[in-house]
Amino acid sequence: MIGYAFMGRAHSHAWRTAPRFFDLPMAPEMAVLVGRSAAAAAAAADQLGWREVETDWRRVLERDDVDLVDICTPGDSHAEIAEAALEAGKHVLVEKPMANTVAQAETMVAAAVEARRRGVRSMVGFTYRRVPAIQLARQLIADGRIGEVRQVRAQYLQDWLADAEAPLSWRLDKDKAGSGALGDIGAHIVDLTQFLTGQRFAGVSGMLETFVTERPVAESFSGLHGTGGSERGPVTVDDAALFTARLTSGAPAVLEATRYAWGRKNAMRIEISGTSGSLAFDFEEMNVLQFFDGTEEARTGGFRRILVTEPDHPYTGHWWPAGHGLGYEHGFTHQVVDLVEALAADQDPAPSFEDGLHVQRVLDAVERSNAETHRWVQI
Ligand SMILES: NC(=O)c1ccc[n+]([C@@H]2O[C@H](COP(=O)([O-])OP(=O)(O)OC[C@H]3O[C@@H](n4cnc5c(N)ncnc54)[C@H](O)[C@@H]3O)[C@@H](O)[C@H]2O)c1
Repeated sequence: MIGYAFMGRAHSHAWRTAPRFFDLPMAPEMAVLVGRSAAAAAAAADQLGWREVETDWRRVLERDDVDLVDICTPGDSHAEIAEAALEAGKHVLVEKPMANTVAQAETMVAAAVEARRRGVRSMVGFTYRRVPAIQLARQLIADGRIGEVRQVRAQYLQDWLADAEAPLSWRLDKDKAGSGALGDIGAHIVDLTQFLTGQRFAGVSGMLETFVTERPVAESFSGLHGTGGSERGPVTVDDAALFTARLTSGAPAVLEATRYAWGRKNAMRIEISGTSGSLAFDFEEMNVLQFFDGTEEARTGGFRRILVTEPDHPYTGHWWPAGHGLGYEHGFTHQVVDLVEALAADQDPAPSFEDGLHVQRVLDAVERSNAETHRWVQI
């Protein structure tokens, strides 16, 4: 695993936990943690449960005891590491967004296609697909329980940049992150829209906004929060991204990603209306799926609050008795389970690099539309 901060901790927890709660067909061994500072990486490896440490990711590609490389670094290094790992015959799990540009995503897909011929697999970490309520929503849509999809409205709302004095981090640097709220959290709702509906985006019209153009340089930073000093630096990405879109069926969609929504901490919401019903989800209540069945009599109709913790709901039977709830980290554990099962079955895990590329094309189209007075951009 490369990188050991926010995602590195979440992934480590998942690698450790998956074989203990699920019957995996192969036993993952947490062989090597890569970090650029030997001392800090050693401390992290000790805490997170990794056997050894390397300070250059290229070294792990030379090792015979490494079968898979898990990339938990910022987007500017994804393409280089993923392509080299695939070339070296290592399976790859790479965090989202898969890359910082469409061009990088395209070369990553080419590397993945070539590697696949040698039985070497790749996957992108769109973790929210693995939330049980999201999996249930997908099943209900596929079963026709809301009829044909008519409209999608999706939001990803956070507020950690609403304070104008919140410090700079790599997420506010276009060279490192590719884009701001758009790629960081907008990518998730783009992927979820496609995952839930089984469709692609066909075109978009977008608007990007940067409310705070200069912030204190961080003196310390962890997760999404830090402390700034007296020096200031420029913000080179968007704080908010809004766009309208059409899916391949022609269904309209409205998406909003912002890190400027005071009070919303991780409100990833998606609501899909079909010809005979609706589904709604909000990550701030992640164990719940709302389902409105329009075929029921109006007198007693209403949104049904499904607590997605029953033993026969997706993944949940491996955890706790009904009603005891799952959290953020469980999505990462389910990601490991699905990945290991695919590898053992010699199948391609999902989402694929092709899925990652399509998300990248949507992000790029939003940026181009914004730059050209919100014109419609075909994807
Ligand atoms: N799936 C999700 O829900 C989710 C959530 C948060 C972040 N992410 C993604 O995960 C990735 C990492 O984000 P994060 O929040 O963990 O960032 P972070 O800043 O918390 O951690 C990044 C880590 O990468 C290391 N690093 C950077 N460049 C490196 C290099 N060249 N070699 C070795 N290590 C290097 C840093 O030292 C740090 O340990 C990003 O792509 C981000 O978009 C995904």
